[in-house]
Amino acid sequence: MPNSQIVTDSLPKHIAIIMDGNGRWAKSQGKPRVFGHKKGVDAVRKTIRAAAKLHIPAITLFAFSSENWRRPEEEVGVLMELFITVLSSEVKKLHKNNLKLQVIGDTTRFNDKLQKKISEAEQLTAGNTGTVINIAANYGGKWDIVQATQKLANLVENGELRSSDITEDMLGRFVTMSDLPDVDLMIRTSGECRISNFMLWQMAYAEMYFTEQYWPEFDEDSFAEAITWYVNRERRFGCTGEQVKALMEAD
Ligand code: IPE
Ligand code: IPE
Ligand code: MG
Repeated sequence: MPNSQIVTDSLPKHIAIIMDGNGRWAKSQGKPRVFGHKKGVDAVRKTIRAAAKLHIPAITLFAFSSENWRRPEEEVGVLMELFITVLSSEVKKLHKNNLKLQVIGDTTRFNDKLQKKISEAEQLTAGNTGTVINIAANYGGKWDIVQATQKLANLVENGELRSSDITEDMLGRFVTMSDLPDVDLMIRTSGECRISNFMLWQMAYAEMYFTEQYWPEFDEDSFAEAITWYVNRERRFGCTGEQVKALMEAD
């Protein structure tokens, strides 16, 4: 039976989560979609807590995709407001717990108030050494590769690089989160089995875990279940969900 050190060593270094199913969950409760988004914040809290307890180096949460602007204006507005409220109310707590918050995506499209909140939160937590929490907002995997390509093209334009010398490593240094390990585990809730233009470059070798649970129902136990699935898949030995949970409850 594996001891806790073996379990610790085989935990994913970077987990990416597509938090899907808020609208359907709300509908199942006879409530408007935005009710699901609000409830989804609790699941975010639980997930961050669980990841921090397991000392996972990085998690990336897909909060708003570059395609989500196509949703009704009112829903987009509520999501932005929620984003501001949550940033304001949670950042101090994250900081107190030594967690580092980063927002990944094209934030220039957000209003000034939100952009200010984002940079304040990033600055406050920049020096923290615990789990890195990336919030992907107005993020798209294709956008990420395009912005990296533009940076490389700029070097070529300035005569600092020859196009024939471009390597995977170089492009990899310009995509977002290049200072973090590649994604080991991708989790998507709500039963949909697609990537929806999430991290394409960084997930090239990720294990993909899909659960039927809607995002607002996701909790510490769901997180432990996903991790257990991953550990057993990667290492092919029988680690139990209890062992992962015990690790979560330690210290
Ligand atoms: C995910 O839930 C949250 C965001 C995309 C912001 P959805 O809003 O996509 O919920 P469903 O998929 O319609 O149920
Ligand atoms: C993906 O969910 C984006 C987020 C979770 C933020 P969507 O619900 O927007 O994806 P599709 O439209 O079902 O592919
Ligand atoms: Mg959805």
